[in-house]
Amino acid sequence: MDQFEIVGGRKIKGTVKISGSKNAALPCLFATLLTDEPCQLDHVPQLDDIDIAIKLLVVLGKQVTRDRDQVVITHGTNLTGKAPYELVRRMRASVLVMGPLLARMGRARVSLPGGCAIGARPINYHLEGFKRMGVKIEIEEGYVKAGCDSLKGAVISLPYPSVGATENLMMAAALAKGETVIQKAAREPEIVDLGRMLMGMGVPIEGLGSSRIKITGVSTLSGVNHRVIPDRIETGTFLIAAAVTKGDLTLKGVDLSHLDDVVQVLRKSGLSIKEVEGGVRARWVKKLKPIDVATAVYPGFPTDMQAQWIALMSVIPGRCRVRETVFENRFLHVQELFRFGADIHLDGRDAIIHGGTHLSGCSVMASDLRAGAALVLAGLAAKGKSTILRVYHLDRGYEQMEVKLRKCGAQIRRTNPVK
Ligand code: UD1
Repeated sequence: MDQFEIVGGRKIKGTVKISGSKNAALPCLFATLLTDEPCQLDHVPQLDDIDIAIKLLVVLGKQVTRDRDQVVITHGTNLTGKAPYELVRRMRASVLVMGPLLARMGRARVSLPGGCAIGARPINYHLEGFKRMGVKIEIEEGYVKAGCDSLKGAVISLPYPSVGATENLMMAAALAKGETVIQKAAREPEIVDLGRMLMGMGVPIEGLGSSRIKITGVSTLSGVNHRVIPDRIETGTFLIAAAVTKGDLTLKGVDLSHLDDVVQVLRKSGLSIKEVEGGVRARWVKKLKPIDVATAVYPGFPTDMQAQWIALMSVIPGRCRVRETVFENRFLHVQELFRFGADIHLDGRDAIIHGGTHLSGCSVMASDLRAGAALVLAGLAAKGKSTILRVYHLDRGYEQMEVKLRKCGAQIRRTNPVK
């Protein structure tokens, strides 16, 4: 298993090209199941999760060719309706094939994803939404067996603006009979991106980016060329890398409007963030201040930035509180940050951070993708050598993270102690 070795305590300085968004690319890849015509996706990051999504498309009957960040999906053999446990357990977002499969075939057999390091993460909102569209659901041998005579448009009020449920239902609604209205829909930029792609395939959609999305089902969808939006979480992680190392980074190919809240709190903390041609420059110019945050659905502070924020707050003198409201168990990184010497107290959904301790390098283990990012940030700030184990979590969602950091002067390398 690969690991990162980091010698921390260096300012990082340079230019980073931000990749396409993983969380936008995944539903867009699965949306290609809705058509037999060729689709081309550009700006798709090269990540382990994307590899799994492509494997799943092939298992389901698509042909996929890939050239760097461009993926072309064409009709393969006839579609099959089964998403196997081997792939779904490796990536929960695989459940997003259910909507398109139901829409195309009237049936789907998708493995239940099982537990997850950051919480129970059920898919009941997805399933209840499908039921409203006329789908019968059974759980059999660990699989969701879903089927219907024809998908009918419906008014679906989600109990919570779930990103995945909104995406799954939007894809099902694209080929359903009549109109579907999703109330309390998620508003994340990734939803808007998927909606733009579906519109490009001929689906009339209103209300993208609002909490009420109306989709008018059509009988067939055409192929599409679609460019995936920049990764806002990678962007935010590198902004924090500049802050935590007292560095100076210019990030290219970003869309700052997608991370308003993160930019606002970083500015409030004292980081200089200025738009420059083709990107944004983040520069440490003065001592940063601790700032409380509470994660929330978009446009609030993203839960996918919470771990990185705690890493930053650990090195800034003063006390602050970080509240996690989206997932019930998303503080596994805190135990590892203790090993660096961070002073953090957990109290239910709150992490109280007494920042300003000098972190010292150590060996730590990533428990999930964003927790791994927080440990890399702590390693960059810490004095001495750190080893981050289980970087396969990072490879799921950060394209060439260590290469991008090294180009900016970080002392980080990937090693594989087994070989
Ligand atoms: C997506 C993102 C993930 C991000 C999360 C929240 C992808 C591939 N992943 O995950 O990186 O952290 O949004 O921004 O885009 N819930 C239920 N029942 C459901 C669905 C969700 O109880 O049927 C709960 C979840 O357990 C969680 C909350 O709702 O507590 C939010 O989940 P959701 O928005 O669905 O997240 P994902 O789509 O899984």
